[in-house]
Amino acid sequence: MVPNIVHIKDQKEKTANVFIVSDIKSLSDFGFSKEETDYIEQKKNDKKSLVVIPGIAASRFVKVIETTEPSNKEKEELRVDGYNIWQTLKKEKQENVTIYDIAGSGTSTLVLAEGLVLASYSFDKYKTDKEDDSRLKDVFVASSETGIDDCTRLQKLCEAVFITRDLVNEPVNKLNVENLSKRVRELADKFGFSADIYSKSKIESLKMGGLLAVNRGSQDPPAFMVLEWSPEEARNETPIVLVGKGVVFDTGGINLKTPPGSLDDMKADMGGAASVIGTMVALASNKVPYKVIGLIPATDNRPGFNAYVPGDIITMFNGKTVEVINTDAEGRMILADALSYADKYKPELVIDLATLTGSAMVAIGQYGTVVMGTAEDKQFEEMEEAADSVHERVVRFPFWSDYDELIKSDIADIKNLGPREAGAITAGKFLSNFTTRPWIHMDIAGPAFVHKEDKYRGSGGTGVGVRLLYELISNRTNS
Ligand code: BES
Ligand code: ZN
Ligand code: ZN
Repeated sequence: MVPNIVHIKDQKEKTANVFIVSDIKSLSDFGFSKEETDYIEQKKNDKKSLVVIPGIAASRFVKVIETTEPSNKEKEELRVDGYNIWQTLKKEKQENVTIYDIAGSGTSTLVLAEGLVLASYSFDKYKTDKEDDSRLKDVFVASSETGIDDCTRLQKLCEAVFITRDLVNEPVNKLNVENLSKRVRELADKFGFSADIYSKSKIESLKMGGLLAVNRGSQDPPAFMVLEWSPEEARNETPIVLVGKGVVFDTGGINLKTPPGSLDDMKADMGGAASVIGTMVALASNKVPYKVIGLIPATDNRPGFNAYVPGDIITMFNGKTVEVINTDAEGRMILADALSYADKYKPELVIDLATLTGSAMVAIGQYGTVVMGTAEDKQFEEMEEAADSVHERVVRFPFWSDYDELIKSDIADIKNLGPREAGAITAGKFLSNFTTRPWIHMDIAGPAFVHKEDKYRGSGGTGVGVRLLYELISNRTNS
């Protein structure tokens, strides 16, 4: 459960307290002694702007800020402060916290709350002994510069991130394609977007050759999910289409993943799908007036008896032919059909999210998302701006036509794998054959799933993409 973020006017009893100040002296009105304010002053000079004052019942936290309009770097520091506060609250078994915005900075208050709430996530549903687990229940926000609406919006966004993380963290024996479809229907009903889930026979009649090829080694039928958030008051006519890779487990198929450890995280190979679902939840629950479609091709990739094999030539949904070089390059096969299907909406922009290549992870690690595509520069800039604002950073890779040569096939239109070099880019180039619209490809193989706790991103599924896409889309409704 996501903690409540509650806007309050009057002081709450019995919570841990966080004070955001610009003038340290103002803390004397809140019961701080001269000794304490001197201590905070000294810490501030040491460049430690989050100060913890240990107490008998509970610690107090003081964050000193320089400006009421924080830069992106300062916002990220505030989120990390939120994470650090949660570490202490957990130790002290505090479930409730109040943030006093004495400095009068609504943005600082909200981003600190965001870091705190996101840090409090844990995936413990399969632990039978939850005794030691601490939960954050309520975050009270006392600020004249932000109101109930902002708090509710933030809470709903955090809930969407939690939903995404849960989906990624569920293993395939608990979340196969059928369970995922069920979950999507429930979320659609609960949050008010629509979900149309195509069965295998419909996928066959549509001739989605890529999705069907990958599914051939599986015991479970595939699904193709069409999610739609189409509010009456939408500001746009031509939608944004989001496409998410929904490989519920990637064994590699007949080209079985053999390097030690390479199978370990492959339950997270539906991270792109989970982020698309989470974004739809965030948009619908906050009633963002913007029309957005989500498309999810879903299957597992397994080496069953009838599995597709290297050498196969597959006719895709858009009629192009693909020579299969490696069955472990399955993500691009299923995304290709979804991208071509997206054309029918004549979208202004298509964005796909996929844990697509080890190559993207090798290139930049877990610290950001590799992006590329055919969208206009200004569309990439819009994405970069949103990405920096929420600290889900993106880096644009080259997309020169030279790379197209690397995936030409002698016997089909293209092949599904190029040489080792530029592996993330040739995967993107493969996808470019299947869309005619302005398009941005986001390879989230690095940041979607992390092993060690990474501040407020936690460990396991991070939910990367949800806050970025929510920011990008809701920014469009602000003018
Ligand atoms: N799901 C993987 C990519 C991946 C790897 C995601 C590691 C997250 C962590 C994808 O389907 C894949 O197997 N890609 C291969 C392509 C290829 C060389 C056959 C890869 O990138 O290694
Ligand atoms: Zn694979
Ligand atoms: Zn994969």
